Amino acid sequence: MKISVCLTGIASRLWVSGLRDILPDTEVTKWVPGSSPSDYAIVWDPPQQFIDEQPQLKAIFNIGAGVDSLLKLRVPSNIPIVRLDDSTMPLQMTEYVCHSVIRYFREFESYSVDKPMFKWFYRKTSNRNDFAVGVMGLGRLGMHLVKTLQVLGYSINGYSRTIKEIKGVNCYIPNELSEFLKNTRLLVNLLPLTPTTENILNYQTLSQLKPGSYVINVARGDHLVDEDLLTLLNNGHLAGATLDVFRTEPLPASHAFWQHPKINITPHIASRVDRDDSISQIAEKIQKMELGLPISGIVDPSLGY
Ligand code: NDP
Ligand code: OXD
Repeated sequence: MKISVCLTGIASRLWVSGLRDILPDTEVTKWVPGSSPSDYAIVWDPPQQFIDEQPQLKAIFNIGAGVDSLLKLRVPSNIPIVRLDDSTMPLQMTEYVCHSVIRYFREFESYSVDKPMFKWFYRKTSNRNDFAVGVMGLGRLGMHLVKTLQVLGYSINGYSRTIKEIKGVNCYIPNELSEFLKNTRLLVNLLPLTPTTENILNYQTLSQLKPGSYVINVARGDHLVDEDLLTLLNNGHLAGATLDVFRTEPLPASHAFWQHPKINITPHIASRVDRDDSISQIAEKIQKMELGLPISGIVDPSLGY
């Protein structure tokens, strides 16, 4: 059996050695153009040439939850694409989003501004009921977040493609998007990037949020129309934004987001892949596939996630 590793922008050495350690009878190599074909592929943002040279793959393992970059390529329909189910990702994402929600809700940023001025000034805590958190995407990450936000006592609106019934959460589906937005004060985007969700955070949608709302985008940069966010921040409709993902990464130094006082930026770190956990998970799935057993995490290319 042969495994090819093709990771764009990520060092492959430790992935290759980790897979060799856990699957000692398997040939594991870093892909270079013209390499001999393999049985399984471990990829992040691979070039089309990689797919074209691997016609007989039994599966492609994407080392991330979002498979958008892979689905932009021509992948033969008989090759299953498997998303990462790294067990640490939901918790990391929940930490990141809860930090941003609490920082905004409790006005910690304002206290940081006060400190250099020796200012001892209390702010009245806002009413939680006026701060409904709207979570777009109730999948692996979104559901983990919702459960934690519930423990913290926030009222929650959830948005997904198919209707959900979650105790204590107001759930909406796409034809109710306006209602979801109008009832939301803190918007969190955890949708997969698909042709249906691209540009979903735009002037028309974001302007339906309650005045003074806050936006947290941790899914993909292509969900957000950058200029529309800037317009709504500058005209005061939106109070601020925390962004972890961007149309171009790294975010170019010339981009207006860097300098904007109402925008917080992190370099796509909301939830980082745990390499060891992922390697064990992929190895286990390959072993199952070799035995003809079913595996979890196969994406539906027609849905894009
Ligand atoms: P899942 O595939 O588990 O869940 C996707 C959710 O989005 C589902 O609830 C689905 O609805 C919903 N959805 C899909 N399409 C639509 C649509 N058109 N309208 C409304 N809802 C829709 O995804 P994950 O939770 O694992 O991850 C979400 C995204 O987070 C990833 O795709 C990736 O882009 C991003 N991510 C970012 C990271 C970072 O560090 N910044 C790290 C990891 C992931 P339904 O339940 O009905 O199917
Ligand atoms: C992912 C990511 O999709 O890291 O897993 O963005």
